[in-house]
Amino acid sequence: NIAELEAEFERKIANDEKIEPKDWMPEKYRKTHIRQISQHAHSEIVGMLPEGNWITRAPSLRRKVALLAKVQDEAGHGLYLYSACETLGISREELYDQLHSGEAKYSSIFNYPTVTWADMGAIGWLVDGAAIINQVPLTATSYGPYARAMVRVCKEESFHQRQGFEIMLTLCNGTPEQKAMAQDALNRWWWPSMMMLGPTDAESVHTEQSMKWKLKRKTNDELRQQFVDQTVPQADLLGLTIPDPDLKWNEDRKSYDYGDMDWEEFWQVVKGHGPCNKVRMDARRNAWDKGKWVRDAAMAYAEKQDKLETA
Ligand code: 3HC
Repeated sequence: NIAELEAEFERKIANDEKIEPKDWMPEKYRKTHIRQISQHAHSEIVGMLPEGNWITRAPSLRRKVALLAKVQDEAGHGLYLYSACETLGISREELYDQLHSGEAKYSSIFNYPTVTWADMGAIGWLVDGAAIINQVPLTATSYGPYARAMVRVCKEESFHQRQGFEIMLTLCNGTPEQKAMAQDALNRWWWPSMMMLGPTDAESVHTEQSMKWKLKRKTNDELRQQFVDQTVPQADLLGLTIPDPDLKWNEDRKSYDYGDMDWEEFWQVVKGHGPCNKVRMDARRNAWDKGKWVRDAAMAYAEKQDKLETA
């Protein structure tokens, strides 16, 4: 009966055992996982667009190859996560419809423009840096398929972060103009990266329940603090200044204090009014419509193969 099923579910969560697709789970647990995993997958797919803009403009073949590999990885992360999400009883088609209709959320960070090559460095260093901090705890999340998808994703993310930091280091060791380009990119990507980790814990509607269900293992502010403490020394190494006048080391907390974020800007971007929301959605819908013939051809080929095998 339900009481026994709930007790078994709670026992598994308490024991850090994984909840698997065939296990009984509260409907709200299922729904919040579809919500978070689908938005995570959409973020990976939309996240290909800002960087895709620079694959043809990369300054060298080596940079082009590394960026191409990174963008391909993001596509793969999206597909792992869509597959993990389908185990919760939603179809791939529905997920795509939710993104293309504008109904689904994806990370705010991908609605900002990439205006110079240094943005490729700042994104790898800061955005993938924040993503790793956000995703490592998710390798211990209670839902089995999500946790397992995160193990592979995190391995590839560390390459993304390193290639971004290396771009920034090269620019900072270059001409004064190159260093100024790196500082300009840091100025534009710092605060959006901080806000990528979500609203403050006080404002977060899901954190309390997500922590109880061990979907979340760290709160938004804990992740943000970790991001600041990890990134400030890296900015020092680059000789760059983080655009936060309130940033200062707090000896008592052994962490950095930092300034307030512009949450008005954050919610505007989340609601679809960011600098690039429209161009990102148009690009996604356009790719979906223009790619229909590829999907149809692949299905026709697969059906032909099936017929040959069963003949
Ligand atoms: N962008 C857009 N929406 C956001 C957001 C952001 N940066 N941060 C929070 N929100 C939304 C939430 O989705 C929620 O809305 P919903 O109820 O419609 O889903 C609302 O704001 C309230 O926020 P909460 O803090 O209560 O929401 P969560 O508990 O879901 O926490 C999160 C937000 C920390 C982003 C969490 O969803 C999470 O850890 N997601 C998995 C990681 C992820 O999706 N990262 C996105 C970037 S992917 C990436 O970086 C790939 C790399 O390769 C670059």
